[in-house]
Amino acid sequence: MSTIVVLSGSPSAVSRTAALCAHVSDRLRRAGHEVAALRARDLPARALLAADTGHPRIAEAVRLVEEADGVVVASPVYKAAYSGLLKALLDLLPQFAFAGKVVLPLVTGGSPAHVLAIDYALRPVLTSLGADHVVPGWFVLDRHITIDGGEVALDPEHAAPLHRVVDAFASAVDARRPLLAAS
Ligand SMILES: Cc1cc2nc3c(=O)[nH]c(=O)nc-3n(C[C@H](O)[C@H](O)[C@H](O)COP(=O)(O)O)c2cc1C
Repeated sequence: MSTIVVLSGSPSAVSRTAALCAHVSDRLRRAGHEVAALRARDLPARALLAADTGHPRIAEAVRLVEEADGVVVASPVYKAAYSGLLKALLDLLPQFAFAGKVVLPLVTGGSPAHVLAIDYALRPVLTSLGADHVVPGWFVLDRHITIDGGEVALDPEHAAPLHRVVDAFASAVDARRPLLAAS
């Protein structure tokens, strides 16, 4: 069984990105993976902004990433890139925090014009953190995610391609585990 951290970089209290993360986490759990949620907005703001890795909540976030076989990194598109909140969290991780891990980038946005934010803005940062394999990511339009009470629904027409990407990520994580065990 692989351990996967699903990280949401949205500052929104009611967040489509976090809803997407919940949907993806459910799918990964149903496939037998152990999944931990990490919401950047829940971390203590002062410690996050000061990159205070001695703070127990920040240290716990860093440990979650360290112990994971795979990491899902999700962000809303903000100003044609990813959120500043996500960057604050990524910046306090060790330089090669994603070494030995498979990483899945996911982005939600209001306009398909910014679909490339995932590959032009987010992917280079994930690569610079030493990820072994950044698998193809996915962009979900905000209007295709509905949150009704605690229930998350994805537009069915657009859920299938997302599921393919998530399943490919999960397979890549599983495929790496024997390699890491042998190293
Ligand atoms: C400050 C801000 C900037 C945004 N910039 C963009 C943008 O450049 N391109 C885009 O497609 N959507 C943009 N959006 C829309 C959000 O990316 C989109 O609604 C997203 O799903 C919000 O995720 P959340 O509910 O997790 O906050 C922006 C929203 C905000 C609040």
